[in-house]
Amino acid sequence: MKVLVATDKPFAKVAVDGIREIIESRGFEFALLEKYTTVEELYEAVKDVHALIIRSDKVTAEVMDHAPELKIVVRAGAGYDNVDLAAASAKNIVVMNTPGQNSNAVAELALGMMVFLARKKFNGASGTELRGKKLGIHAFGNVGRYVAEIAKGFGMEVYAFDPFVDTADIEKAGVHAVNSVESLYDTCQYISLHIPANEKTKKSINFELLKRLPKNATIVNTARKEVIHEEDLLKIMEERADISYISDITPDAKDAFETNFADRIFFTPKKAGAQTAEANINAGLAAARQIADYFLTGNTTFKVN
Ligand code: 3PG
Repeated sequence: MKVLVATDKPFAKVAVDGIREIIESRGFEFALLEKYTTVEELYEAVKDVHALIIRSDKVTAEVMDHAPELKIVVRAGAGYDNVDLAAASAKNIVVMNTPGQNSNAVAELALGMMVFLARKKFNGASGTELRGKKLGIHAFGNVGRYVAEIAKGFGMEVYAFDPFVDTADIEKAGVHAVNSVESLYDTCQYISLHIPANEKTKKSINFELLKRLPKNATIVNTARKEVIHEEDLLKIMEERADISYISDITPDAKDAFETNFADRIFFTPKKAGAQTAEANINAGLAAARQIADYFLTGNTTFKVN
């Protein structure tokens, strides 16, 4: 069995070494494609592989067409909106993710960006503090839980909305559960997004929600750019000079945000949430183990299609 790690944004070397060790110790063949610049390079690399480890790399039906031996794709990370699940299922290819493995890294970045903007991007001007502010966690999954834990350390008052998580479960984490997304946006000065990008959530952070935000609000996006209705966000930021937007995913309308609201925005130059040695090791090695387990025992835990 040949296992290819195909990562446009490479893992830390220590993680790649660990993945190689797991794959080779099980008697499988290891291959690596990093920082590729064209889809043709990916097509060529997948032509004889049985398993694929990826990050945000797009695995389309065309990529799968070029991989006739492919049996399993593991997204080393949480969001799998970059994989065509229907095409995979049609070809009997198992798709998995590695939930929770990179969540702390993403959460630390969310809080880091909040401090950075609250302190005027460290330019020396007088800023504000996080202590005592209300933080709304939009979706209380693995990342949301870590954000809550860290934010409580900062002395923030934490709220969460998640229709898929029991209220008792949220409250047990010392977080106020609210029963509607509207009430989260009514209540919290900071909103941290942790929803996946899917047909229901795309562009769902729209004018109707954003207009509810209290004064001096900041939207923190370490989820996906697609969940934001960018035209609506630009409109509300035009109407309200007190709203800020910080994101780990550069918006499509980057230039408009930068031209009009330079002091109230921050975008990481390249998506960096999961870009730590620890997260790379956790997610990368989990992906390698899941592939080995699947081939050796048929274990399909974490299958998403
Ligand atoms: C995820 O979904 O796991 C995060 O968005 C991290 O994505 P990345 O592996 O492309 O950095």
